[in-house]
Amino acid sequence: MTVNVETYDETKAHQIADGIYWVGFSDRKAGFSNNPYLLDDGTDVILLDPGSRAPEHYNIVKEKVCSITDPKRINYIIAHHQDPDLCASIPLFEEIVDPNVKILVPTRAAVFIKYYDAKSEVIPIEDGEALTLTSGRELTFIHTPYVHFAGSMVTYDVKTKTVFSSDIFGAFSIDWNLYANEYYLEAFKAFTEPYLGSKPALDNALDKLEKIEIEMICPQHGSIIDKDIHKYIEAARELEVGTWT
Ligand SMILES: [Fe+2]
Ligand SMILES: [Fe+2]
Repeated sequence: MTVNVETYDETKAHQIADGIYWVGFSDRKAGFSNNPYLLDDGTDVILLDPGSRAPEHYNIVKEKVCSITDPKRINYIIAHHQDPDLCASIPLFEEIVDPNVKILVPTRAAVFIKYYDAKSEVIPIEDGEALTLTSGRELTFIHTPYVHFAGSMVTYDVKTKTVFSSDIFGAFSIDWNLYANEYYLEAFKAFTEPYLGSKPALDNALDKLEKIEIEMICPQHGSIIDKDIHKYIEAARELEVGTWT
């Protein structure tokens, strides 16, 4: 399968919405991308799902973050669940961010963050909780249990109607684009069917997402979905999740 690669420089951070930056990378050899995001809201700066601690991954993300801002301004880290591809670099980032940084994690994942040797304050987040930033911008947190960990959540930025969806709407892909194109449904299926384990849990998450107005989905793997949101929600409902043996 050959996909047209759009013309942007993936070695650099990329602004994708008001104050929101993609600071990830695509490991083309592995056919897998990892997508940390940075939200710079003026007074508050939030790093979402910071990623791997392997130097070949961490250094890319760190450089992209530092190209946008002084990392000392980062006063929140959000981890949507406790997997190493989201959290392993937290202790490395702790060395360069605000020493009073707070780590926001869904309730049932919070206990695991210390296992990465994270030293900062961990704040367990309940379903439906919100974080109001200094500017008044609001982030709301929606639990998506068992998609794919018991304690999983997504973050909704009310201002830009962006969902940071963690592993939901993620994809495997060798020919990777920053933005989802006509090939994304296939790549999305290739990741979602083997990695999300429960159809009722996925349907529950999709039901919750359908209740909010979404303009952009930023998954932790694969590509950013900036159009045809409902097409992807409907496609997710058709997947054969939880049937792999
Ligand atoms: Fe995960
Ligand atoms: Fe993941």
